[in-house]
Amino acid sequence: MRQACRLARHAAGDSATLGLVPTMGAIHQGHLSLVEAARRDCDVVAASIFVNPLQFGPKEDFARYPRAFDDDCEKLATGVDLLFAPSVQEMYPPGATTFVEVNGLSERLDGASRPGHFRGVATVVNKLFNIVAPDHAYFGQKDAAQVAVLQAMVCDLNLPVRIVVCPIVREPDGLAISSRNVYLSPERRTIALALSRSLRVVQAEINHGEANSATLRAAVVDALESEPGLKIDYVEVVSPDTLEPVASIAPRALVAVAAWVGETRLIDNLIVTPGS
Ligand code: PAJ
Repeated sequence: MRQACRLARHAAGDSATLGLVPTMGAIHQGHLSLVEAARRDCDVVAASIFVNPLQFGPKEDFARYPRAFDDDCEKLATGVDLLFAPSVQEMYPPGATTFVEVNGLSERLDGASRPGHFRGVATVVNKLFNIVAPDHAYFGQKDAAQVAVLQAMVCDLNLPVRIVVCPIVREPDGLAISSRNVYLSPERRTIALALSRSLRVVQAEINHGEANSATLRAAVVDALESEPGLKIDYVEVVSPDTLEPVASIAPRALVAVAAWVGETRLIDNLIVTPGS
């Protein structure tokens, strides 16, 4: 892969830029929006498909995570020049003992509910950066905590990669697109709409002038609790960079929610600023 990236970059010219879109496959419109952004910015676009066992907890869905390699290749064919789809054995040969830990940030939001998750994410993304050597790497705002962890990793380890964050792509009814949405029955999918609805409620409160985090958090909790089929994992109003709770949403805050709908854990979020 390293050789292929070098050759593609060389063929595209001396100052050619390379963009990387890391994914776990089951490619959907959210992933494709990252590819489109990379295509706009970069001369060469690489994507990776790797269901990374290191970021799944022992009781999580690694074994049943959707895998659709042939479909994925078709979906990526037009926008992507290079596709890296290594095996688990290739990424983690027996005896590999080096990991990347972004302390503090990795224990917040999803990291609090999923111990070890961000250690797995940071380690695999660092490896992908070392293999592909991209100038830009594209991530979705959908995984807001992941973005904060990876931005810290790039900064702390002086990695020569610019992280580009792309907006959340939603279904027409508001549901944030996710590979895990395939787990939802039609009834549960309707229940899942409460996540994006709760964020619209919070946005309406902000439009009316509310900026107090506790009040806004309570509004999200109320909206989610009005849907009995769903169990809240967390509702947080935090700094998008440190993921620490903030008292007011000024100048900018991340409203992040995670909830269980049956056995499926879903997340959604909104970046907010006062009065907008
Ligand atoms: P995966 O869940 O496959 O997501 C790959 C990228 O697509 C992530 O950056 C994610 O934020 C983005 N994405 C997913 N749904 C999106 C949506 N609805 N709108 C916009 N972007 C969306 O995130 C991972 O994989 C892994 O943790 C990975 C970074 C590949 C490391 O293993």
